Amino acid sequence: MKIARLLVAAYLALIGIQTFAQGMQVPTPSPGLMPSPMGGQPLYARACAVCHGDELTGTDKGPPLLHKIYEPSHHSDASFQMAVKHGSRAHHWQFGNMPPVDGLSPDDVAHITAYVRMRQRRVGIQ
Ligand code: HEC
Repeated sequence: MKIARLLVAAYLALIGIQTFAQGMQVPTPSPGLMPSPMGGQPLYARACAVCHGDELTGTDKGPPLLHKIYEPSHHSDASFQMAVKHGSRAHHWQFGNMPPVDGLSPDDVAHITAYVRMRQRRVGIQ
């Protein structure tokens, strides 16, 4: 009996995880898109600078993106897509959660990410 109950619980947990994973799909940019730092700059200024700072050095509402923890090997381009689409729970800093940012397509986010990567490379974060 106990084992049957355990199996049911495991099955329900699995379904829960699946639903969660489906709801949290990573948005993908158009195939063949060439992400452009220059295209990303004005989008960044409009949608991200209010918290991450005009110079990507952070504000009192959000962390600097010119920081080693946001280097590509730790925060991949997919994590940018996920943060914009679904928001991000505070886990590295004390600024609170990042809310989802509306009105940006996956292509827009790819351009923004290219802009951030260019700025990161300039200060040796890569
Ligand atoms: C309302 C403020 C706010 C706005 C607007 C905002 N962010 Fe954030 N963002 C945050 C905060 C706060 C965190 C840090 C959460 C933590 O880790 O403690 C964060 C974290 C992130 C992360 C790291 C996510 C992770 O997986 O740890 C990325 C990437 C990011 N932001 C990108 C962006 C981009 C790109 C934009 C613009 C499209 C943007 N943010 C707009 C507040 C904001």
